[in-house]
Amino acid sequence: MSKQRQLLVTVALPYANGPTHLGHLVEHIQADIWVRLQRSLGNDVVFICGDDAHGTPIMISAEKQNITPDQLVAQIHDIRKQDLHDFQVHYDNYYTTHSPENKTLSEMIYQRLKERGDIETKTISQLFDPAKKMFLPDRYVKGECPRCGAKDQYGDNCEACGATYSTTDLKNPTSILSGEKPIEKESVHYFFKLANHQDLLEKWLKAGHLQSAVSNKLLEWFAQGLSPWDISRDEPYFGFEIPDAPGKYFYVWLDAPIGYMASFVNLSKKRNDLDFDHYWVDEKSTELYHFVGKDIVYFHALFWPAMLHGSGHRMPTNVFAHGYLTINGAKMSKSRGTFITARQYIQHLDSDYLRYYFAAKLNSGIDDLDFNFLDFAQRVNSDLVGKVVNIASRCAGFITKNFEGKLAEKFDNDELFTHAIQQAEKIADLLVQREYNQAVKEIMALADAANAYIAEQAPWDLAKQPGQEGRVQSVCTLGLNLFKVIMTYLHPIVPNLAKKSADFLNYPELSWQTLKTPLLNHRINTFTPLITRIDAQKIDSYFSEQPIVNA
Ligand code: MSP
Ligand code: ZN
Repeated sequence: MSKQRQLLVTVALPYANGPTHLGHLVEHIQADIWVRLQRSLGNDVVFICGDDAHGTPIMISAEKQNITPDQLVAQIHDIRKQDLHDFQVHYDNYYTTHSPENKTLSEMIYQRLKERGDIETKTISQLFDPAKKMFLPDRYVKGECPRCGAKDQYGDNCEACGATYSTTDLKNPTSILSGEKPIEKESVHYFFKLANHQDLLEKWLKAGHLQSAVSNKLLEWFAQGLSPWDISRDEPYFGFEIPDAPGKYFYVWLDAPIGYMASFVNLSKKRNDLDFDHYWVDEKSTELYHFVGKDIVYFHALFWPAMLHGSGHRMPTNVFAHGYLTINGAKMSKSRGTFITARQYIQHLDSDYLRYYFAAKLNSGIDDLDFNFLDFAQRVNSDLVGKVVNIASRCAGFITKNFEGKLAEKFDNDELFTHAIQQAEKIADLLVQREYNQAVKEIMALADAANAYIAEQAPWDLAKQPGQEGRVQSVCTLGLNLFKVIMTYLHPIVPNLAKKSADFLNYPELSWQTLKTPLLNHRINTFTPLITRIDAQKIDSYFSEQPIVNA
C-alpha cells in the first residue's frame, strides 16, 4: 500500500452579498465529487471554503438594506450553509474572511512582504464621489464612451464598441451611487511588486501546475513584465485596515485567498490533527488544490502564489479552473430571467439530478457548459432512472418474492462482473483527472451491458418456467451485483442515490475499497423506488418565477 496522501482542497469563496446560484454550484459540486472520490480511494482530504465578506459592493448592499455589513454577511452565511448542505456539498469548515484569524494572517503576510521589499506606495488619481465622500470603483461610474460616444457605459469598458479605457477618460461621468459628477482626487495607494517574483512564477507556471490553456495565457502577460498590483483602498471600506496606514484598507482580493488559510486555522482549533506548517509551509508533506472559475484564475495563479512564496509559505500544487455555466444557451442574468438560485432549484428538484447533469457535462477544461432544461430532464430520466435504477427495479422483486430477499451463492456469468470491476482503475483515473463526462460515459456503458444481459435472460419469463428458480435467482443476483458496482462508481456524483441504494442492498457503504467483493448469500431489503422521473413539462414553470435577490 502506498502511503496515504494528504490533500487540502479549497473552492473559491463566494461573495457574501448574494444568494448561491447554479453557477456557483458548478464549482462546489465539481470539487465535492473530487473530494468524495479521493476519500473513497483512501486519501486524507481537508475540504474548506467560506464566504468572501469584504469589499465595496457588500458595504453598499448592506447600506441599501439599512443593516450593517456584519449583519448582511452573517445573514448570507447562514443561508449559504443551508444551500450547500442541501446539495450534499460537505465542507470540513465553511468560514468567512471577516474573521479574527483572517485579520491576523493578512497582517502577518503583509508585514512579511513589506520586510522583504515587496511593497511600495504611489500616489494615484481616481474618481471621487463628493456627495458620498468616497472613491468610486470602475463599476460605480457611468458616462459616455471616449471613443464612440455611446451613453450609459461603465467606467472601464464600452459595451457598444468594445473599447477599454481608464475611468478618468469617461465623458460626462456620473456616480451611480449619488448621481453626482465625480471629481478627480489623488491618494496614496499601496502596491505589491509582483515583478519581484516574476522568475519564480514563470518557473512555476512552466512546471505544469496548471491546465495548459490557462498557463499559456498567463505566460503571454509575462512578456510585457508584471505591473505592481494595487492592494489598498481608501476608507470608507468594509475590510481590514492596513497596519500603520490609518484610513487605508486591504483590497478585498488581498485578504480573500488568505481566507483559505483562515478557514483552515479555524478548523484546526476544532480538531487536533491539523498542523499549520505541515499544510502551509512544507510543500513535500501535503498537496494544495484550488478549484476556481476561469474569471479568477489569474488571482490564484499569479498574485496568490507570489504572496504565498513571498511570505514563506508553500505554493499551490494545482489550480483547477472551470468554465462558466449558461442557462438554455444564455448568460446567467437577472434581467434576462436566466438567473436560477440554489433555493429555487431545490424547492422542486433533487440535488442528485443537478450533480449528475454537471458531471455528465464537465471535463478538465475551461469551456463553458450549458444547463438546458430539456436536455437535463432527458439525461437524468434516461440515464439515472432508465438505465441505472432500472437494473435494481427489474431484479429486486424476484429476490424479495421468490427467495425471501436472499441473493444466490454464486452467479453464472462471471465475465460481466469481472469486466465491471476491472473498470475501477480507469474510472477512478478519469475522475481524478476531472474528466467527469468521460467517466460517466464509461459507467453508463456498464449499465447498458447490465440491462442487455437482464433483457436477454428475461427473468420474468424464466420465473414462469418450472425448474428455472435457480436461474432466476442467479440472473437477478448478478444484476444486483452489477448495480452495486455501478452505484459505487457513481457514489461521489450522486450521494443521495448512493445512500438509498446502499440501504436497499443492505450494505453499509459503497466504496472503492469494497468494490470487488460480490454480494452473495446476502439478504437485501425490499425495493422501493429510489428516484423519480423529472417531468420535463414542468421545468419551465419551476424557474419562471424570478428570485428576489439583493446585490
Ligand atoms: N469572492 C471571489 C472569489 C474569492 S476566492 C479567494 C469571487 N466570488 S464570486 O461569488 O463572484 O464567484 C465565486 C466562484 O463562482 C468563482 O470561482 C466564479 O468563477 C464562480 N462562478 C460565478 N458565476 C459562475 C457561473 N455562471 N458559472 C460557473 N462558475 C461561476 O469571485
Ligand atoms: Zn464605445
